[in-house]
Amino acid sequence: MPRRNKITIVGAGNVGATAAHWAVQQDLGDVVLVDIKEGLPQGKALDLAESGPVMGFDSNLVGTNDYDATAGSDVVVITAGVPRRKDPATGKFTSRDELVDINRKIVGSVTKEIVARSPDSILICVSNPLDAMCHVMLAESGFPRERVIGMAGVLDTARYKTFIGMELGVSVEDIHGMVLGGHGDTMVPLPSHTSVGGIPLRELMSEEKIDAIIARTRKGGGEIVGLLGYSGYYAPSASVIAMVESIVRDKKRVLPAACLCQGEYGYDKLFLGVPTVIGAGGVDKIIEMKLGDKEKQMLEVSANAVRDVVKLLPY
Ligand code: NAI
Ligand code: 2OP
Repeated sequence: MPRRNKITIVGAGNVGATAAHWAVQQDLGDVVLVDIKEGLPQGKALDLAESGPVMGFDSNLVGTNDYDATAGSDVVVITAGVPRRKDPATGKFTSRDELVDINRKIVGSVTKEIVARSPDSILICVSNPLDAMCHVMLAESGFPRERVIGMAGVLDTARYKTFIGMELGVSVEDIHGMVLGGHGDTMVPLPSHTSVGGIPLRELMSEEKIDAIIARTRKGGGEIVGLLGYSGYYAPSASVIAMVESIVRDKKRVLPAACLCQGEYGYDKLFLGVPTVIGAGGVDKIIEMKLGDKEKQMLEVSANAVRDVVKLLPY
């Protein structure tokens, strides 16, 4: 009998629990939700399971503090960590880089627990600072690069497309484009590779408006933190589930994702957001697209920003 896919999500907070919600709604498989806080994953998993009879899904949901329940997972999404928050005293936001020390310990220990029980799984990192945490997961798992992927590009691209759709008053479904580079203020939206219903973006929008959208996209995470006081989770969780779906259904979607570059785009041993084909084995391939000189320069700035954080890691 064919078995259902097993999807583990570590961190039953905002992103993790909402990802579980999208996963069962899309019938992607059975879901195990793990968290260090007692009661939290159990409560969220039970509440979500109780929505099954209403929404009409049959996925099994388990909430637990025990990694034994994750054994034999096909895909593992790691959201465990401390998110960016606004300090009420100073009004300042935690920067992604400030999170590195706390989250590398959390992500490192979670990765070890997971790989001990699911040695063939595909790991998707969500925890910030994203690109650096991918390095932690790769080092602690010992997995090949195909099975350690970071989610950021799908989210950054979704924000970029949302702002273009708002500006033009058109359906986001007809907008195609990508955001590459690290998950930070130096990310690289590519207007020259963006089209709306096949029409190049630059035929539809002034350079000034495009620049404003690029600036808003780069600060997209901070914009939500500014409004909520904590980071967004609907779009982040939807984005990671798009990657999970492409894996469990072997869709081979072309998605921007953080991958370990080994020469691609001129970078070596560095996780960076690049166009990938995502399928049953994880990263099927990295697509090397032609970039203009300005885009190459922006990618270099972004790669340097990632390197600055990676340098803080003990690897
Ligand atoms: P949250 O605080 O709502 O959830 C994090 C959960 O991780 C909490 O429930 C916490 O108890 C759990 N946790 C902490 N240490 C753990 C451990 N050792 N083992 C298991 N669970 C543990 O935070 P949220 O909003 O869900 O964000 C999660 C992470 O994802 C943050 O690092 C955030 O910055 C990042 N993020 C990344 C995005 C991206 O594009 N890559 C987008 C949005 C968030
Ligand atoms: C975001 O972009 C905080 O990385 C998170 O929303």
